Amino acid sequence: MKTRLFSIMTILLTGLLLLAMGLTEPVEQDPWDVPSKYKKMKNPYADVSDKEQIGRVHYAQHCKSCHGTKGRGDGKKAANLDTPTGDFTVASFKEQSDGEIYYKSFIGRGDMPNFEKKIKDDEDRWLIVNYIRTLK
Ligand code: HEC
Repeated sequence: MKTRLFSIMTILLTGLLLLAMGLTEPVEQDPWDVPSKYKKMKNPYADVSDKEQIGRVHYAQHCKSCHGTKGRGDGKKAANLDTPTGDFTVASFKEQSDGEIYYKSFIGRGDMPNFEKKIKDDEDRWLIVNYIRTLK
């Protein structure tokens, strides 16, 4: 009888432990399903030099609070999000097409807000894409 109780307790405690580990484990960023229309989009402003720093100014106003000054995902709001923001400085981020970055930046999903209404001008949008590509 005693050994049976012991086994039940062990099973219950192991279960609880596994549950707790599952809850504290950092959530992985799921791959995005970017529609091919966006993937193939050409950046009409790829070679434009942004003398007025429109990209940087928009980034500071709309994106920095979560993504951080250098795009590493350490903005002041980041800790309150359920989803990690990703890191704009890593090679796997930079390998994406401009269109993929555009889709994620302005369509968004989940904790990543949609910016279609807030940032309407297409040139401004592409200058933000150009800007986040320069972060290192
Ligand atoms: C409220 C916080 C928040 C703000 C503000 C925000 N983001 Fe995000 N962003 C996120 C989160 C969270 C993710 C990850 C979402 C996911 O994977 O589901 C993300 C993901 C991204 C990604 C994809 C990263 C990758 O690894 O591929 C890009 C690009 C991006 N954001 C650009 C922007 C831009 C540009 C702005 C400003 C116009 C912005 N974000 C503003 C929270 C934010």
